[in-house]
Amino acid sequence: MEQRKRIGILTSGGDCPGLNAAIRAVAKTAIASGYDAIGIIRGWQGLLGEKSNIILLDRINTSGIIDRGGTILSTSRTSPFDIKDGPQQVINSVKRLGLDGLIVLGGDGTLNCSLEMYELGLPIIGIPKTIDNDVRGTEYCIGFQTAVQVATDALDRLRSTAASHHRVMILEVMGRNAGWIATYAGMANGADYILIPEIVMDDKKIGTLIEMLTARNKRGISFSIIVVAEGTVIDGTKYSYNVDGKTSKLGGVGRYLAEIISERTDFNTRFSALGYVQRGGTPVAYDRSLATHFGVKAMQIAKEGKYGRLIALKNNKVRDVPLEDVRGGIRPCSLKIYNIAEKFFG
Ligand code: F6P
Repeated sequence: MEQRKRIGILTSGGDCPGLNAAIRAVAKTAIASGYDAIGIIRGWQGLLGEKSNIILLDRINTSGIIDRGGTILSTSRTSPFDIKDGPQQVINSVKRLGLDGLIVLGGDGTLNCSLEMYELGLPIIGIPKTIDNDVRGTEYCIGFQTAVQVATDALDRLRSTAASHHRVMILEVMGRNAGWIATYAGMANGADYILIPEIVMDDKKIGTLIEMLTARNKRGISFSIIVVAEGTVIDGTKYSYNVDGKTSKLGGVGRYLAEIISERTDFNTRFSALGYVQRGGTPVAYDRSLATHFGVKAMQIAKEGKYGRLIALKNNKVRDVPLEDVRGGIRPCSLKIYNIAEKFFG
């Protein structure tokens, strides 16, 4: 008897809203096509070592999860390339499990690692997911729209307290070294200034920001809203903090900016950092449907045996492009889009 075909799916890197919608789409499409859908637990970690950590995905454990944040498969930031013989261990596990292919949901780091694994012979299809929206080759990543919505809601809330207290309110958002979340949320909120990693804040730019706040105040507007992306460089420094003695994470630029504004003006200034709140919880409808489209497309090309591809949104259409397209660093925020938000500063 011919062995049933088997597709593996894993989520790696930071979690984001919409992952479960994609897992569901892949698994249900796979099952309907006569495949076994094998979920790998904790990303690449589940394929390292002698014994794989997996779960058989079925119609029951993939039901009722489309609106759930996080990932039912769990995730980790482990890369096979960080471990001695890691890539070979992954290849061995995929063989041992009898997988015809592997669908990997990841951000920039995971997808570049997937590309290397593909080049080592692993049949891989990548699906872009990250709130940072910084993966090359696609216009949108799963999770981004939800993060923008959460950040926009936070900014709207900050505006009412800023107005009541006549304050300058700063919100620090995530995005790593890209300003996508800051730009889109800032634009949606009508923020008075947006700072992003793509635009280095030197003394001249800080001067412009202070002038803007002052001019706004002179016009009789007693409050201002500022969005700052965590990876923004101010006065030559990228702000970070240490989490466990060896890992440093971006964060702290909002506080620093508040200090600068307080030193150079009389404005009552406060900051908030949105942090992991923008990465957790229920995905917005857009992320659920993008994840569903991406999952279905990934399974469609897996059935054709078309590997080494990235599922992407291009000109508003779901396509598959060479996985190779993720290479070359992150996709910076579009300055054209930033320039539109900028028209409403002050
Ligand atoms: O890549 C997603 C992201 O949330 C970034 O925006 C942020 O800088 C980073 O992950 C935080 O990483 P960790 O989950 O490892 O703390």
